[in-house]
Amino acid sequence: MTPMKKLQDFTGFSDKTDDAIFHMENDFGAHHYERIQVVVRHARGCWLTDDKGNKYLDCLAAYSAANPGHHHPAITGAVMDALNGHYASVLSNVVFTDPLGVFLSEAARFAPQMAPRFGNHGNKVLPKNGGVESVETAIKTMRYYGFKQKGIPDGKQEIIVFNNNFHGRTISVVSFSSSKKYKEGFGPLTPGFVSVEFGSIEAVKNAITPNTCGILVEPFQGEGGMIIPPKGFLAGLRQLCDENDLLLMADEIQVGMGRTGKKFCFEHENIVPDGVILGKALSGGLVPLSAFITNTKLMDMVFSKGSDGSTFGGYPLACVAGTASLKVFEEENLAEQSAQKGEILKKRIQEIADRSLHVKEVRGKGLFIGIEVKDGNAMDFCRKLLKLGLVVNDSHGHTIRISPPLVINEEEMDFLVDRLEKVLIE
Ligand SMILES: Cc1ncc(COP(=O)(O)O)c(C=O)c1O
Repeated sequence: MTPMKKLQDFTGFSDKTDDAIFHMENDFGAHHYERIQVVVRHARGCWLTDDKGNKYLDCLAAYSAANPGHHHPAITGAVMDALNGHYASVLSNVVFTDPLGVFLSEAARFAPQMAPRFGNHGNKVLPKNGGVESVETAIKTMRYYGFKQKGIPDGKQEIIVFNNNFHGRTISVVSFSSSKKYKEGFGPLTPGFVSVEFGSIEAVKNAITPNTCGILVEPFQGEGGMIIPPKGFLAGLRQLCDENDLLLMADEIQVGMGRTGKKFCFEHENIVPDGVILGKALSGGLVPLSAFITNTKLMDMVFSKGSDGSTFGGYPLACVAGTASLKVFEEENLAEQSAQKGEILKKRIQEIADRSLHVKEVRGKGLFIGIEVKDGNAMDFCRKLLKLGLVVNDSHGHTIRISPPLVINEEEMDFLVDRLEKVLIE
């Protein structure tokens, strides 16, 4: 059935009522997400619009996927050109395509030399779709390195991860989640992961065994409650990895690409990991695209013909979006924008927090700011904020997560601060 278009420019895809959409999603979809009661018909820049023309400032930005703003014209234009020019569709990985070649070379140069202790060989990139798939690529890399280079018997490799991590939802990845609801009943779980306290170098040190092959870390935990590790933690991990010949993998799916005021969050401690995982904003939020980037020497050691693959991983449409998104990132200085606006916004939120009875702590870097509330129920505040025109959600139950598109302007920040003031000072 062809959806009927309405005349208003905010009506989007179909003429179904909101009630009809609620029923369709409830009746025909898995109930695997907690939802807020709004049907978004249109998304542009920092704003989401419903079918009555009500506008909501998007302070979630799809968990950083919409860093450059929704439907950024340059990225949307590149995608439309690819569709209209008939170079967008999935072919197969047996042929070469220019969108893939161009994207790989741009993404390889986007990151600093990964794993510099293996030599200055440049980077290589392995593209996938959802972020978790590239987390799996990083896990494979650490395990294979342990097996091939360190002589750990296959099946005995161990990877150190952190309590309250979030790296996605495949069986292997939920196997090392701290959250019962992510894994209960889904066993048998994947062995080979040791989870320790986030922020404790001592705990990591104690967890290292002769079978340890690597460490997987979020440089700033987003889903885990907006937790910034203590100063020196990432540098400490780097040092432990160097001393014990371990690979350090940074999951920058949510905190990379400018979100915390630097291109990569690991730059806050001037370290370079052995591999970095990107997703979400890598395509400007328009199509699924993730990537694992590492030193050429490591990529070539681990992956050979047949040892990995994906039908859509690196298909032309995603690569066109990815290349356009990397260009927008550089041309619009998104990291710089995030650093400058984040500093102002955090200060303004802190001023509200100082007068509020509800706020326990404000913490953040760049435009990645958490407001921890005292009674531990951040979602109550998020629901109130929705009524005032903000889409926001909680992190780990206790913290309101403020992560708008990095292109948010002054007026939009005023709108945001005004709404926060209303719900936090009452
Ligand atoms: C830090 C981190 N890693 C991995 C993922 C998983 O990405 P995806 O949902 O695209 O598989 C997410 C998603 O929120 C994330 O925030």
